[in-house]
Amino acid sequence: MSDLDSDFYESEDPVWNPALLTIPMPGIRRMVNLATTMEDVVHLSIGQPDLPAPQHVVDAAVEALQAGQTGYTLDAGLPELLEALADYYGARYGRALTADNILVTTGATEAIYLALTSTSSAGREFIIPDPAFMLYAPLVRMNGGTVKTVPTRAENNHQLDPQDVIDAIDMNTCAIVLNSPSNPTGTLYPRETVEAIVEEAAYRGVYVISDEVYDHLIYDGKTYPSVLSCCSDLDHVMVVSSFSKTFSMAGMRIGWLIASQGAIKKLRRYHMFTTTVANTPCQWAGVAALRGERDFVDNMLEIYTRRRDRVVELVEQTPFLEGYKPEGAFYLFPALPEGINGNNVALRLLKETGVCTIPGQTFGESCGNALRISYSTSIEQIEEGFRRLIPWMERQDFA
Ligand SMILES: Cc1ncc(COP(=O)(O)O)c(C=O)c1O
Repeated sequence: MSDLDSDFYESEDPVWNPALLTIPMPGIRRMVNLATTMEDVVHLSIGQPDLPAPQHVVDAAVEALQAGQTGYTLDAGLPELLEALADYYGARYGRALTADNILVTTGATEAIYLALTSTSSAGREFIIPDPAFMLYAPLVRMNGGTVKTVPTRAENNHQLDPQDVIDAIDMNTCAIVLNSPSNPTGTLYPRETVEAIVEEAAYRGVYVISDEVYDHLIYDGKTYPSVLSCCSDLDHVMVVSSFSKTFSMAGMRIGWLIASQGAIKKLRRYHMFTTTVANTPCQWAGVAALRGERDFVDNMLEIYTRRRDRVVELVEQTPFLEGYKPEGAFYLFPALPEGINGNNVALRLLKETGVCTIPGQTFGESCGNALRISYSTSIEQIEEGFRRLIPWMERQDFA
């Protein structure tokens, strides 16, 4: 199967902007499309929480609709949400933010889009770990920028060596993209890593764009080292997060970007020309999420910790898979032996056992021999998946 979506890429129609060629056919879509044609599929491929959103959050969206909250909000976001976010970050990291440091967006996706496309242009380079969430590199390239990757490996738990990142900075470096805990690896960067990168970047006038959407899916009682708690000021950082993962609100599409007031001023104007404002009733749902009780997040963490522990055990029992213990998010990114094509393995695995995983190549060039396994599904489904996967692997000849 080609890496590219043939309809899209073989089109002779000159109407399409050639920059669209930088968007790869998402490996996720390809696998999930194939899975929809099959029966009895076990999905270890899901990229969103499987738990329902908290009732008080859903109620707040419904109440907002019924109260006639169907118009636009202020372009920066609903003032009540901006205030709730500033309070929340103040309490969590002791960092004083004002509403002018925050822009409410249509999910973290829009915040990432704004951050990358408003900075990328010809001659500018962006440092991105490899593997990484698949949005970053295409958004840089669509706008003429180039990407320098810093590979990470399963044998090091996919930890990023801060010195590798610092060594990659050169005259053309515009920004470094971080995503901890990471999709697809689940790796949580320790404070020392984040601090070293943030400090050096600020010193060199390079931005750090930090995607923190999994900032509440942190296991083993660890404290989350947000970029916001590692920088002395906001002059060289843009921090992105959303309600999608923390409160199972992915479909409600509310995220945000935190930066200096000057950066937010620029990005507000750009946001006006992209999506105008985020969804109004769902911004009210966001206020309820931040102001309401947090049992939901604690319960979710307990559930995901059990799943994480079980997946780690099962990967250890699987021949040919090199795993590790991820400390965040809901993914594990085990490696197959060097030289084995993860695309073929994922495809055969799906066709021959009905277990849907995502091939590593979806997330970068350095990890063609990896598979992304998501444990955002029940323990029963996880066990059923490995009940099929382990004997299948035993029959392979990957030496
Ligand atoms: C690392 C990462 N960033 C951003 C997003 C998108 O988040 P949102 O739903 O808030 O747009 C995802 C979704 O899977 C993600 O994994």
